[in-house]
Amino acid sequence: MITAPTVNSKLPDVKTTIFTVVGDLARKHDAIDLSQGFPNFEADPELIELVSKAMRNGHNQYAGMKGLPELREILSDKIKKLNGHHYSPENEITIVAGATQAIYTAITAFINAGDEVIVLKPAYDCYEPAIKINGGLTVHVELDAPDYEVDWELFKTKITAKTKMVIINTPHNPIGRIFSKNDMLRLQEILRSTNIILLSDEVYEHIIFDGEIHQSVSRFKDLASRSIICSSFGKTFHVTGWKIGYCVAPQELMHEFQKVHQFNVFCVPRPVQHALATYLEKEHHYLELGAFYQKKRDFFLDAIKDSRFKFTPSQGSFFQILDYSEITDEKDDELVRRLILEHKLASIPVSEFNLNYRNDKMLRFCFAKKEETLQQAADILNKI
Ligand SMILES: Cc1ncc(COP(=O)(O)O)c(C=O)c1O
Repeated sequence: MITAPTVNSKLPDVKTTIFTVVGDLARKHDAIDLSQGFPNFEADPELIELVSKAMRNGHNQYAGMKGLPELREILSDKIKKLNGHHYSPENEITIVAGATQAIYTAITAFINAGDEVIVLKPAYDCYEPAIKINGGLTVHVELDAPDYEVDWELFKTKITAKTKMVIINTPHNPIGRIFSKNDMLRLQEILRSTNIILLSDEVYEHIIFDGEIHQSVSRFKDLASRSIICSSFGKTFHVTGWKIGYCVAPQELMHEFQKVHQFNVFCVPRPVQHALATYLEKEHHYLELGAFYQKKRDFFLDAIKDSRFKFTPSQGSFFQILDYSEITDEKDDELVRRLILEHKLASIPVSEFNLNYRNDKMLRFCFAKKEETLQQAADILNKI
């Protein structure tokens, strides 16, 4: 008789992610899908051609562990120009297999059993499993609807002798909120006399609206000196399926990061790195992204302005949250299900990102879609 080994799960509470569950349901019911955080339009043909060219030119073997030097160099220049901080291409930048890998790698590199990590809730879903699998403990700071402002006094009370890391995310998924300069200065002040590492998830760094400036951690000298910043080319160049991004940190932190990176990934696809290094030479490829997505946000919000949903316009990211409190008392996941089954429109319940599935009566919609898709979704929302 064959007996399967007994499994002692390291993540007994983890279930299939809401994105997979809703995505499957949306496909099954042929629903318009504004749930998933990816564009339903093509990337720039110029970028696709650059990848093909790199393949044809024989750039098909392993890239170095840190990533292609020319890509690290152009990233270093870009960050210096935009945020005023110099990261050494040689020692302080790594090309990663998407931000998810960078986040997992950073947490694995620094979190030991019993270490505490502060996470602001609602939060993107990949932080906590990575903390847990490394034996760390998540300490939550809850942000309240509808503004989801950080209460920095409350935040301060969560710091203990065991706090090893803080994770932040701006622009924020799922809320579409950005950190202000004041938020960053408060955080800098609070962390100044500590030994805490800051992990800053900045995957939507270029998707920011209404003339605001992305307050990257790298703009704040003291914060930058204790921070690992993760970003995603997938989000920036409409190629989420490529799973490629970058990570920057001061040399001492990056050295430890790379010790893990070299054994869980080693290096990421070389032809794509060649293409990105060339594509990044034209600044408008990323500097115009905010205006591009702001147009989509405005199109969507204008199309639903007479609906019964309430909203504050998203400040950044792919996402707009809509408040349905004047429409129904249903729980958000029940409403998401009903919208798919009865109205053929998919969204994400914000409770999935909240502590203990707190129900704020908010649904998350991704507006990184073609205008015709946004219009179809709006036509449905206007009838609800
Ligand atoms: C806030 C946030 N962080 C990280 C990621 C993961 O990025 P990547 O696809 O580059 O792994 C996402 C993707 O949706 C995200 O929204």
